[in-house]
Parts: sequence; C-alpha cells; structure tokens
Amino acid sequence: MASSFAVCGLHLRGRGSLVKCLQKVETSLHRSIGTNVVAAQTEATRKDEGDEKEKDGHKSLYALQAERQEQAERSVLISCHSRTNEKKFLKYLSRHGEIKKHFFYESYGTYAVVEFANQESVASLLEGAAIPSISHECTVPFKSRLLSLSNLGSGDSPNQKSGLQCQPQTTVPINELIQRLSREESIDQQITFLTEAYQLTEENSRLRFLVCSLLKDIAAAYFPECIIKPFGSSVNGFGKLGCDLDMFLDLDGISGRNVKMPKSGLSLEYQMKRANSERSVTQSILSVIGECVDQFGPGCVGVQKILNARCPLVRFAHQPSGFQCDLTANNRVAMKSTELLYLYGELDPRVRCLVFTVRCWARAHGVTSSIPGAWITNFSLTVMVLFFLQRRSPPIIPTLDQLRDLAGPADKSVIEGNDCTFVSDLSKIQLSSNTETLERLLCEFFEFYATFTFSRRSINIRKGKEQNKPEVAPLHIQNPFETSLNVSKNVNATQLDRFVALCQESAWLLQQSETNTPKGHREGNTPTPWGLATILLPLHVAGVKISKKRRREPASDRIKGLLESLKNKNQQKVS
Ligand code: CTP
Ligand code: MG
Repeated sequence: MASSFAVCGLHLRGRGSLVKCLQKVETSLHRSIGTNVVAAQTEATRKDEGDEKEKDGHKSLYALQAERQEQAERSVLISCHSRTNEKKFLKYLSRHGEIKKHFFYESYGTYAVVEFANQESVASLLEGAAIPSISHECTVPFKSRLLSLSNLGSGDSPNQKSGLQCQPQTTVPINELIQRLSREESIDQQITFLTEAYQLTEENSRLRFLVCSLLKDIAAAYFPECIIKPFGSSVNGFGKLGCDLDMFLDLDGISGRNVKMPKSGLSLEYQMKRANSERSVTQSILSVIGECVDQFGPGCVGVQKILNARCPLVRFAHQPSGFQCDLTANNRVAMKSTELLYLYGELDPRVRCLVFTVRCWARAHGVTSSIPGAWITNFSLTVMVLFFLQRRSPPIIPTLDQLRDLAGPADKSVIEGNDCTFVSDLSKIQLSSNTETLERLLCEFFEFYATFTFSRRSINIRKGKEQNKPEVAPLHIQNPFETSLNVSKNVNATQLDRFVALCQESAWLLQQSETNTPKGHREGNTPTPWGLATILLPLHVAGVKISKKRRREPASDRIKGLLESLKNKNQQKVS
C-alpha cells in the first residue's frame, strides 16, 4: 500500500557539502544577465533540430538526442529493494503525477528509472523526499534525481524471490552466445542474431541519457545553461551493452558560438583568468567540474582528471548505472564523427551488422580491450569496416567526400579549421545496388585485411581509396575530419600482425565446408559450433573441434593456401 512507502519514503542520495558549490554559482563566470535570452535561442534552435525528422522513417541523430534529452529531464533514478512491490511502488510515485514509463534493472543493487509525463512531478517528488540524517555535518542541500527508497515495500518474507522484471544491462556471455549462434540456420541469421543480442536496448539508451542529465545538474552549479550530451558508441548506433559512456559538456549555448547574440549596448563580461588558449580553458572547466563530481556527485566513484591527454577528460564510474564515464568538453569534432557513423549505420542495415560482428570477433580474440594500450580500438575497427564497404563493387556506402558534395547550406560545419560538412538528409543519398549477403561480406572483410598492404597504404574513408602512408606508424587510418591525425596511432606492429593473422585464420575457417554449414541440433543438446560461432572460439579450440584435416595442416600452409586461393580469385576477376 502507498502508506507503507510513506513511512520510510524516498531519500535523497548525496555526500559532502554542496554549499560551496552553490556559492560559486553566485560568482560564476556567467552571471545571470542575458543568459536567459541566449538559452531561449538555443532551446529554439534545438527544438527545430529535434523536430527535423528524416524521410523514410529514419530519425536524425539530432531528433533522437532531443527526444531522449527531454525524456531524461522528466526522469528520476531510484535505488530500491529487490523485493519492492511494483504495483505499490507505482501507486506511491504516481501521487506526484502521471508516470509515462518505468523499468527496473540491477547494478550493485536494484534500481528503477521512472519517467514522469511532466517535469513538475519531478519537482514535487524531490520536494517530498527526506534528506538522510546519518550525520548532520554530512548532509547536502542538493536535491539530486538519484533517490533511494528505504523500505521493503512488499512486506513479504525476506526469502521470497523478487517479482521484479529487471531489464538486462549487459550482453550474454560469449560462451552462451556461441551456443545460441550455433542453433541458427545460416551465417546471415547468426550475424543478425548477434547484432540484436549485443546492441543497446531502448532502456539502456534511456539510462545513458539520464546519467548525462544527472551529471548536467551538477555541472549546472557552474554553468546553469550547459547541456551534457552522450557521444561515441552510446549514440552512434554501434554501441554494445556495457560500452563506456562518452559525454560532452556543451557550452555552445552560453559561449555565443553558433548562437546569434541580440544587438545590445550591453555585453557580458566573459573572462577566464589564467587561460592563454582554448585548451587551457577546457582543462580549467573540466578540473572544477571533475572536483565537483568527485566531492558531491551521488554514485560517482573513482574520479580521475586526465587533463593532459590530447583530449582532456574526467573519468569516473557511475555506480548506480554501472557505466564507465568519460566526460570531455570542447570536443565538437568527435560529435561530428558520431553523427557520421550514425548516418552510415542508418544507410544500410548491413553496416551495423558487420560492425557488430567484427567488434565482437575482435573482442573475443583480444584484438580490442577495455584497457587503453597498443590495441586497435573499436572506433578504428569501425572505420576499417566502413572503408571496406566503400571498396565493394558496387560500393555499399558513399565516401565522405560524396556526402560532403550532397550537403545543403544548413549542413555547413567548420570546426577549428576542419571541414566537417556532410549531408544530414538521408533521402538525398542514393541507395546502393550492391546485394551481397552478410556471410559473403564478412568473409571478404577478413580476406581484404588479410592481404591489405598496411606497410605502405593508409585507410581513408573521406576518399574511399587507399592512400600512401604519410607516417611510419604500423597502422594508418586517417581521421575523417582532422585529416592530419591518425586514429590508430597507438597501435604497434605486434598488435597489427595479430589482427592480420586472425583475419587470415578466420577467412580460412569461414571458407571450410565443415565449418560453414549448419549442424543439425536437438533441443536440449549442446549444439556443435559452426559458421560465425567457430570464428568466435579461441582458434586452437575451433581448429581441434572443426577439422581433423586442419589439425594435420600447419598454420603457415593454411595461410599459403589461402593466399593462393585469393591470388586465383583476383586473376579470375581481372580476366
Ligand atoms: N574519436 C575520435 N578519434 C579518436 C578516438 C575517438 O574522433 N582517435 C571519437 C569517435 O567519435 C568515437 C568517440 O570519440 O566514437 C568515442 O571514442 P571511444 O570511446 O574510443 O570509441 P567508441 O566509438 O565510443 O567505442 P567503444 O564502444 O569502444 O567505447
Ligand atoms: Mg566509447
């Protein structure tokens, strides 16, 4: 019953004192004069962007972001007991207004995301929530939208199992995935299954926007009109459940950049003390916000300020969501590359399927890692897949230069001297006539990179053509917008060699009739791995299980054979 909640009720989650922080608002760089005008203008611009929907049912990234951001503002995150009675929970909360959507999930405890129909309901909820009274000194007058519900709710015995349906926030373990894939009837179906199992769910995507919105409430202590937007794999369509949350502190609305300022005799006194470059401004902003997140951010732990990186950032773990977060500022080129990747993913369903499969394959073999190092990153891998798809005949996706040529005046974008212009209206892009299957594309992807001349050539999705390498790095992938940069500069020769060897092995495995035909299976039995499942297994396991012939054949002979077959194929193509 609602009354049982009312006894214990909702508690605000927070630590430390935010008083200092709130005082800083008074003296913050952006005093209130004029900022509301600017904010209203940015809001209007954003609304236009949000209303802009692409034809053919495709939503632009702007529209998607605007919708999710608005939902997040009306949402709260509640830590609750695993035995919470859902009906009572909803009845209690709906005293504050209509609930539009809710879901539960587990991450170091059980949590609920609750989206109200109106923002006033959130204010009413916070008004009624109690401030925890553990120790008077430790309480914080900061009403964050991360709350906890401290009673049991159900009144059931402690041994009773939770009746809550929790939404998964992580992917199926690789062994389970291999079994599930082996039950599919074709490699194309396997690839589609893998994509569906790995991609971000609607709930996970909402949670990502909510975490950005919660963090914005903290950053707003300094910059009341700021926005925090997710970028990278959280929104580019290639995110896997469990991927990190890249965030961008957007101050454009208050910086006057991209915003028409009203004509007035008054201008704001903007000043940044002790800053002699844009980079040092970014570092200062991130430093104070990082401090604030560290001291007062509810649920934010392990805060590290990595301010000397090429792209300064604040890294931390957000425990209630389980996300590893990277907060950056002034990173508008990365927002553009996110938009570009999103557009490519929307153009043809094969793009996403292939990227997911290659990312999953790379992770299974340790080609990529969550630890930074000399490994190939997921971003580099994605660009490699896009380049490969541009090289098909006919190409499956256009080059970036072609997308730039299709751009309208509203698409024009130059960031720090880099031309980031490309078309945003998908209906202007002609669909490809290429009808190759996913199975064929996957196999060809491995063959393409098994024989790519990495020693001399560079990967370039702007031109859609291999170029001569401008530097000696083992792997050169030109940054699509900051063209003088190599996105895979970190990769060493050992890691590149491993990638090439794995491409050779995987191409070989996919070509074997023993591995590329479905194995009959009976329900209940562990199915024999085949097709895509075999290339996700550690190679020695795949080799032993799949082919007796392969066991007798040394790896070098197999690669030689593969190269021979490729040579023959190429000769056939020429003739
Ligand atoms: N980025 C970039 N240049 C790089 C690295 C990253 O422009 N050298 C941008 C890309 O837009 C990328 C985003 O920053 O998508 C985030 O980088 P990262 O987290 O490394 O890659 P994700 O695409 O988010 O992939 P993952 O799932 O591994 O996080
Ligand atoms: Mg990322």
